[in-house]
Amino acid sequence: MEYDESVSFNHLVSVESLTNQEVLGLIRRASAFKNGASWTPSNKPIFVTNLFFEDSTRTHKSFEVAEKKLGLEVISFDATTSSIKKGETLYDTLLTLSAIGVDIAVIRHSKERYYEELLNSPTISCHIINGGDGSGQHPSQCLLDLMTIYEEFGTFHGLKVAIVGDISHSRVARSNMQLLQRLGASVYFSGPKDWYDSSFETYGHYLPLDELVKIADVMMMLRVQHERHHTETNFSKERYHKEYGLTKQRAGQMKKEAIIMHPAPVNRDVELAGELVESKQSRIVTQMRNGVYIRMAVLQAVLNNN
Ligand code: CP
Repeated sequence: MEYDESVSFNHLVSVESLTNQEVLGLIRRASAFKNGASWTPSNKPIFVTNLFFEDSTRTHKSFEVAEKKLGLEVISFDATTSSIKKGETLYDTLLTLSAIGVDIAVIRHSKERYYEELLNSPTISCHIINGGDGSGQHPSQCLLDLMTIYEEFGTFHGLKVAIVGDISHSRVARSNMQLLQRLGASVYFSGPKDWYDSSFETYGHYLPLDELVKIADVMMMLRVQHERHHTETNFSKERYHKEYGLTKQRAGQMKKEAIIMHPAPVNRDVELAGELVESKQSRIVTQMRNGVYIRMAVLQAVLNNN
């Protein structure tokens, strides 16, 4: 089926605001970029800045590559040397950046829903793209995950997608379960029960990992988010790997056509065996590569709204 590539929205802060048509349109546009399509947004300069208040390699740098591929002017921002250090708030930082002419702000912050006060501002006019808010949402990661799955299977209908690990602290899991279920996939969960929440039952069902690994089309493994744990976890790396990790032995039980995914960074030999990262069934490197193209499509969608 053909989907309209000309997606347009003012901000992207959560996958919940996207229609299925928009999701498929963004995937289609990202695929076109991957196949060499080009797009010139405007004759006048467009300024974009990436504000990362939490550590990042993939999201930060692939947004930067995407911005440069689209010919945007990237204004550097370092939270550790900005006026945030003098007590300036996130709101006042965005008020300033918007006033000096920044058109798009990509923001990652540990505070869930940090973006609400920015979207409600009567003065801040730049497009806001959420690069991850606490345990809330990670829309561009979800879209690149969906692109990777769609490239592999050409559909979401009827697919069995396993989301495994530290689900309750994962913005990737939350965004993915919402869209995958809406697009027709069956979502299953596994991992430590302490990191599982009954609210996830809206989107899928919990299964023991050794059962799940045999039926899943996609094994989406998650990093243990130590930075969001308020109490010490009881697991050694070895125990976690044995009980909840994709070990080589478990990977051997997967269906032949099933794929392994992980948003990364990967703790090798914890959530999955280190040598599976670059294995034949792994799409982890493809996910990283697709991140650039999906972020180009998201940037184009906000600029289409100008
Ligand atoms: N997957 C992801 O968000 O990675 P980074 O934290 O490196 O951006």
